[in-house]
Amino acid sequence: MNYQWYPGHMTKARRMMQEDIKLVELVIELLDARAPLASRNPDIDDLGKNKARLILLNKSDLADPVQNKAWAEYFVSLGCGCIPVDSRGRGGMKEIQAAILEACRERLERDRRRGIQNRPVRAMVAGIPNVGKSTFINSLAGKACAKTGNRPGVTKGRQWIRLNKNVELLDTPGILWPKFEDQQVGLKLALLGSINDEILNMEEMAVHLLNFLKTAYPGAAAARYGCWEEDAQAQLSEIAQVRGCLVKGGALDLERAAQLLMDDFRSGKLGKITLENPPANG
Ligand code: G4P
Repeated sequence: MNYQWYPGHMTKARRMMQEDIKLVELVIELLDARAPLASRNPDIDDLGKNKARLILLNKSDLADPVQNKAWAEYFVSLGCGCIPVDSRGRGGMKEIQAAILEACRERLERDRRRGIQNRPVRAMVAGIPNVGKSTFINSLAGKACAKTGNRPGVTKGRQWIRLNKNVELLDTPGILWPKFEDQQVGLKLALLGSINDEILNMEEMAVHLLNFLKTAYPGAAAARYGCWEEDAQAQLSEIAQVRGCLVKGGALDLERAAQLLMDDFRSGKLGKITLENPPANG
């Protein structure tokens, strides 16, 4: 399957990200908790070098709680602050303020030593499309937060949200383009719904997902659909049968069954599932 898409947007996104990142001291990098490495663009390390970093595992409500913990420990072992969050349900928002301050501790202490007061740390959110950047910003900022006006010069055209006396957040997130060099990465992003479904072969994806579930979450598909076949293609046919996915004339509509499986996975109806394990050596 070919997962490539929208190169034009990528170029523009990169340019905007390069501009915006100059304005901040902290990058809040949003990853999808269900596939943290696949949803990560390693170029952020280069773009954001010399910046403080906080990694958030978003959509953690849909991911395996054991894996959320393991992934957070993994990123912490690499020297980054990392917490699982659920931006839609606002889970983890309380911890974030403290994590932001911790990530910027050096800068704040330096200011204190120099007697500089009231110079808030500036932060921006970055991540690939659909990872939940806008939802996160809205959850974090809430309605109570005042937006600060444009400032002449440096912040022209940008709006900042004052989170507290120490932190200001850029109200538009940085868009990172996913990395597709590895087919497995492309597949995981496709499963998460980060790629336009219209260009994908749903049936092929469904078979991949069923094969993955068989080894990593045995019983998940059987529990949802009340049927089980060892062979993934046969299992998809069973799902079509059980759910009445039929085309005119009565043949099985595997495409529709595949879409149904995908929707169930993406909405958490197959359970809390994480598609990849943290690298073993941390
Ligand atoms: P983006 O700015 O990074 O492109 O992502 P955006 O906030 O638009 O979020 C993309 C989708 O992910 C939205 O769903 C949003 O509700 C959902 N989402 C964001 N954060 C979380 C989270 O922590 N947990 C869960 N379960 N979902 C999250 P949508 O279906 O596109 O829209 P809607 O149905 O919410 O209106």
